[in-house]
Amino acid sequence: MDLQDKVVVVTGASSGLGLIMSQMLVDEGAQVYGLARRLNRLNEIQDDLGTAFHPIPCDVRNESEVNDAFAAITNEAGRIDVLINNAGLGQFGAVDELTLDEWEVQMETNLRGVFLCTRAAVPTMKQQNQESGFGGHIVNIASIAGLIGNPKIGAYNASKFGLRGFSESLMKELRDDGIKVTCVYPGSIETHFADVAGSSGSPNPMQPEDVSATVLHVLEGPDNYLISEVVMRPLRPRG
Ligand SMILES: NC(=O)c1ccc[n+]([C@@H]2O[C@H](COP(=O)([O-])OP(=O)(O)OC[C@H]3O[C@@H](n4cnc5c(N)ncnc54)[C@H](OP(=O)(O)O)[C@@H]3O)[C@@H](O)[C@H]2O)c1
Repeated sequence: MDLQDKVVVVTGASSGLGLIMSQMLVDEGAQVYGLARRLNRLNEIQDDLGTAFHPIPCDVRNESEVNDAFAAITNEAGRIDVLINNAGLGQFGAVDELTLDEWEVQMETNLRGVFLCTRAAVPTMKQQNQESGFGGHIVNIASIAGLIGNPKIGAYNASKFGLRGFSESLMKELRDDGIKVTCVYPGSIETHFADVAGSSGSPNPMQPEDVSATVLHVLEGPDNYLISEVVMRPLRPRG
């Protein structure tokens, strides 16, 4: 897909990987609708990136907020070419110390949020497929924690393993509607993730610009060429 003038929705656009992907997509000529809870951060990003970045306040866990956000985008832009389900978080800790709230916020953001945003975008993409023969592209940002379990990240593991299953199902379900689905599994990235997760993070993480460049590469492939899964890791995670 040539990203020039394409309509791209990025969830979790106020920080980290979502912010960098939004910057790089705007640089490619896309109209980027950035969703997150912190509207003040989104407005600051619009000040930097210009009017090709459209701030949309939305908690992806909230069904009516998600439906309203996608209705506003389709009303304004008339289409959705790409959805990047990036909003997500970890809350790490021993299983016997993890609170129910910590478990639920991960399931609700990393899984329910992806379901709600996907469900809101797919009808528009199916209609685009009927009109032009190509529906769009959904990219789910999972994690290497969606492939490998480790101590003290059980809830995060469960949510990202779940996202892997959801993505594989979607990929097979939506391909005949001309909709590509890609699931991305990065290792540690230098963002604000570790602050939220309550971990020290990796001493030698990947840069969000490098992960974002790979996502752009995945999006820019020919219509009949689907990269369905990508795993990225720092070469030397301990430096
Ligand atoms: N950093 C890593 O090491 C790493 C590795 C593998 C995968 N990932 C994945 O990468 C994705 C992006 O994380 P990041 O590393 O960029 O972390 P980050 O800097 O903490 O950014 C997380 C983003 O998610 C948004 N968000 C969180 N809860 C939300 C909600 N309920 N509704 C809407 N937006 C919400 C936040 O915005 P608001 O707070 O403004 O809502 C923020 O923009 C996540 O899915 C994460 O699991 C990260």
